[in-house]
Order: sequence, then C-alpha cells, then structure tokens
Amino acid sequence: MTSVKVAILGFGTVGEGIFNILQEKREQFKTQLGIDLDVAKILVRDATKQRVGIANTLLTESIDEVLAVPNLDVVFEAIVGEEPAYGYLDKAIEHHVNVVTANKVMFAKFGQVLQEKAQKYGVQVGYEATTAGGVPVIKTMENILRVNDVNHVQGILNGTSNYILTQMRTEGISFETALKNAQQLGYAEADPYNDVSGQDAFKKLMILSNLAFGQQPNWDDVEVVGISAITLQQVQEADAKGQRYRHIAEVGLDEDGYIFAKIGPQLVDATHPLYSIDGVDNAVSLDTNYIGKLTLVGPGAGMYPTASVMVEDYADMLVKKPALVTI
Ligand code: NAP
Ligand code: HSE
Repeated sequence: MTSVKVAILGFGTVGEGIFNILQEKREQFKTQLGIDLDVAKILVRDATKQRVGIANTLLTESIDEVLAVPNLDVVFEAIVGEEPAYGYLDKAIEHHVNVVTANKVMFAKFGQVLQEKAQKYGVQVGYEATTAGGVPVIKTMENILRVNDVNHVQGILNGTSNYILTQMRTEGISFETALKNAQQLGYAEADPYNDVSGQDAFKKLMILSNLAFGQQPNWDDVEVVGISAITLQQVQEADAKGQRYRHIAEVGLDEDGYIFAKIGPQLVDATHPLYSIDGVDNAVSLDTNYIGKLTLVGPGAGMYPTASVMVEDYADMLVKKPALVTI
C-alpha cells in the first residue's frame, strides 16, 4: 500500500468538498489504486474557528507547517485571490509538491509561471476547476490540441451570472434576491463583485486563451461588462419577445491573426446555441479545424462539481506518475 499525504488550502465551499470526497473515496482508492490518501493539514485564514467534523490538529494558518508534513505529495488550493495563493503554490512546487488549484484569479495571471516552474521541479499542476466548474474543458482542450487547432472559443463561463439571469426570468425575482440565492448555494464568491462584473468570466477566458493560443490579449484592451445593470423588467420584456440575456465570453484570432476577446451580456433568440443553457450551467464552444464545432455543457460552479474535478486532476497525476512512498 502506498501512503500519500495531502493538504488542502481553504476550507470553504470547495475545500470542504475536496475533504468530503477524499474521505468518501478513501477505501475505493485503496482497493483500486493501492493508494491511501490521508489529509494531513488544512490551511485556513482563521484556524480558531470550529469546523464540524474536523480535528483542530488538522488546521493551520501557516504554509510552512503545511509544507513540513513528511511525504506531502499534493496541495489542493481553494483559497481566494492572487496572494497569498500564488506564493503558497510557488513554495509548494519548490518543495517538490504537486499542486491542484480552483483559483482562476491567481491562475489567469500566474498559471504559465507556475507550470514552467513545476516542469523544472518535476511536479505537476492541475487547474481544471479554475474554468467552467465541473465541465472538463481544460482536459478536453489539452487532448484535442495535440491534433486540432482551436481558432475561436465562446461560452458562458460564470455560473452565478447565468443562475441569476435564469432565476430572474423563470421565477420573476429581483437581481438582488437571485444573487443571495446563488451565494447560499455556494455558486457566488464570498465577495460577488467578480461574478456580476464579468471579471470572473474574464479570468477564466484568459486561462482558455493561454491554452488555445499560447497567449492572452492585452488585458487593458478587453471590454469586460457584467450583468449587474440588467433589470427584472428588461429580462421579462426580452422573454416576451422570445429572447434571453446570456453573459457571453469569447476569444479568437481575427483574419490577420491578431487575438481579440470580449465579455458581456447579449440578447439571444432560440436559434443561438447558448439560448437553452439555464441555471448554474456553463457552456464552452470550441471552433476547431478538424473536429468542427465542439460544445461542452455542465455545472459551472458548486461544491461537488468543482471539488470532484480537482480530485480527478490529482488521480490523473497519480496515474501518470505514481507516488513514491510505500509503507
Ligand atoms: P469560500 O467558500 O469563500 O472559502 C474560502 C476559504 O479559503 C476559506 O476557508 C478561507 O478561510 C480560506 N481563505 C481565504 N483567503 C485566505 C487567505 N488569505 N489565507 C488562508 N486562507 C484563506 O470560497 P470557495 O467558494 O470555496 O472558493 C475557493 C476558490 O475556488 C476561489 O478561488 C474560487 O474562485 C474558486 N472556485 C469556486 C467555485 C465555487 O463554486 N464556489 C468553483 C470554482 C472555483 P476561513 O474559512 O478561515 O475564512
Ligand atoms: N463564482 C464562480 C461562478 C464559481 O459562479 O462561476 C465557479 O468558478
């Protein structure tokens, strides 16, 4: 049996989901993979806060304490914002620890640097959960890009915005009430500014841009508009005309090969491929040279869609490069 020590950074919606899945799947991993996954540390902002079902000895506020765990093989990062997340993952890589992140704000800016550093240190970086929640767009793109070129990416990349627009239309409730519901369901960030301003979708689009085109547009040149100015009356008037508001992000290459991107609400009718995408679902359409158009749809936020793809990222790493410690 191989023993693998695991740490989780953040114990909010996503961090708790990772912990629960690792507990639920522990026996299955032992029998199927011969691996015992043991959560050895959980880093939070406030380690004195009581967490149901979590021993106090597991909690810490110190990344050095996390990285001092003997035989630590992976850090799952589910905290918020660029720092201290980037610094923590940078340090983890220097300690030859694999990293898996859900943090798109951090990864849009530092993803490439972390991936290059990980290569140098012989560890892996998983980032499926940064973009489109449980929709496996990163792995799909990595796979098809071995043969296909992607020349345009278009999608709904923020679950909260899509959920709010859907609730306003189907339940006739205000933007504010729909946002509160999205927060209670764990879709919206604790500070929902990025969700409703379009910044969250923008960061995800930049991650896809890196993957599809090996570059990002100049961030200052990208028009980013959110959904916060859309009223219930506008949603209802559109609905009466057979139209729906969708928050759409797109990036592509123009005919001169220059990269362009834009993010904002659009009114679409029933002929548009994103018309039927409701609730917390995200959708990503990829225009490719050989496959043609490929569209992926699924839950774009929430505890288990997000946490499960993070654990899958790590399971993939184990398959590619089995952990070293045998007991
Ligand atoms: P959350 O519920 O607000 O939880 C955040 C956790 O991180 C909390 O446990 C908090 O500690 C900890 N934390 C925050 N800032 C920290 C800091 N500076 N140092 C140490 N710990 C810190 O957030 P979440 O919804 O789980 O999201 C976590 C990450 O996943 C974010 O980057 C988010 O964008 C991304 N994400 C979320 C979803 C989703 O559906 N929720 C989906 C995909 C990606 P305390 O508990 O002590 O406050
Ligand atoms: N707050 C984000 C959203 C979480 O609503 O899409 C998933 O990244």
